[in-house]
Amino acid sequence: MPTRYDIVGGRPLRGTLRVSGAKNAALKMIVAALIADGVTALRNVPRITDVEITLKLCEELGARYAWRDETTVEIDARRVNNPVIPLKYSGSTRTPILFVSPLLHRLGRAELTTIGGCSIGPRPINYHIAGLRQLGVVVEEVSRAAYRFHADQLQGNIITLEYPSVGATENLLMAAVGARGRTVIRNAAIEPEILNLAGMLQAMGAVVYQDVNRAWIVEGASRFRAVEYDVMDDRIEAASFAACAVATGGEVFVQGAIQRDMVTFLDWLRKVGGEFDIRPDGIRFYRHGKLRPVNLETDVHPGFMTDWQPPFVALLTQAEGISVVHETVYESRFGYVEALVSMGARIQLTNDCLGSRECRFTNKNYLHSALISGPTPLQGGELHIPDLRAGFAYVMAALLATGESRIYGTEFVQRGYADLIGKLRAIGAEIIETPAETVEPQ
Ligand code: EPU
Repeated sequence: MPTRYDIVGGRPLRGTLRVSGAKNAALKMIVAALIADGVTALRNVPRITDVEITLKLCEELGARYAWRDETTVEIDARRVNNPVIPLKYSGSTRTPILFVSPLLHRLGRAELTTIGGCSIGPRPINYHIAGLRQLGVVVEEVSRAAYRFHADQLQGNIITLEYPSVGATENLLMAAVGARGRTVIRNAAIEPEILNLAGMLQAMGAVVYQDVNRAWIVEGASRFRAVEYDVMDDRIEAASFAACAVATGGEVFVQGAIQRDMVTFLDWLRKVGGEFDIRPDGIRFYRHGKLRPVNLETDVHPGFMTDWQPPFVALLTQAEGISVVHETVYESRFGYVEALVSMGARIQLTNDCLGSRECRFTNKNYLHSALISGPTPLQGGELHIPDLRAGFAYVMAALLATGESRIYGTEFVQRGYADLIGKLRAIGAEIIETPAETVEPQ
């Protein structure tokens, strides 16, 4: 049911909250559960819409699932029997393409009807397709974004990705574990969420390890066991709340913020003037004095995550001077800027690569660099969320703004942030969620 958030901002956020399990690890681990012919239990799974959709997709393929407690889900993959990844839930998420590899192992074929996800760029799947072909999969393009896959036995190979894509690396890891012989994936992504998935695959019986220079090496196996495994804590959520604490001049202890997974974020936060104390179970975020501007580029791990970018830009609206942010992962990840400008932010977008280097979007007419002049007081307003991480930037801008904001499109935020309202209230935010009946027509 569509809802809106009403937020009264302008006060420092103080208190303690606990982040949930990482969406971008949990989704892949749910998919990986289908490789094993048994009942997998995943702990620390966030209760978000994207997880529900992925579990429903598992069900459509013949698996069963049940929540054992609030955050532990059991996936019974013994009856996986349907190779058709249905259209029904596929339009809203990137996960469908990842089901291809488990289905190939279990059934020898898979059919993908379409693929969705946030509108932050064209997001093609060409690296997935090329890599699977190199592992011996016959791929037939039925229509745009609809494919048929077939392989009696996948065969290990040396694959070099054009770009260290997170999804393609995960898909090829899941394919390679069931391939005959050794697979090397070069120029691969090495995000902590992928390590989490690789750890699960290892526990299931695969030989899978990371080599130097962004390479993954996998020795295929033929039998996998169902395991109980923990999803890592969400470092995107942790960074989002950290940015809120520092931007509002408050002090928030984020339980589940793990230094090892957030080193780059912490460095940049400190450069801006944010402070933090590392504790065994989390990190306390606060600031002393004014915020400083920075020149920042997003990148694949271990660079500054693209998913940290929107809340960080909201933070930079409060820094004294001109900051530069060069987005190098997605073509169109500044869609939310217009709304921040309508609230009083001074942000200019440009097609140029304003970082220290060129990126894949050089000379391609994408507004992928931002100049942010601060500090600017923000005024509450009416906002319509375009995608998940932008949604958090809106919530954060509303928390910074004086007056009341009304935020529509909350379903985007609920795809990736579990119990956002509860967590924000725990740190003193004035936020209510209004049901659909009272949402005014746009
Ligand atoms: N790309 C291609 N071809 C491909 C695959 C990717 O050109 O076959 C391009 C994409 O268009 C993009 C870049 O490569 O420009 C990186 O895409 P990647 O494959 O790494 O992203 P993804 O796997 O689709 C995941 C996360 C994103 C996160 C990115 C980058 C999930 C479910 N999604 O997406 O998270 O931004 O990695 O770290 O894990 C989010 O949580 O809000 C989110 C968008």
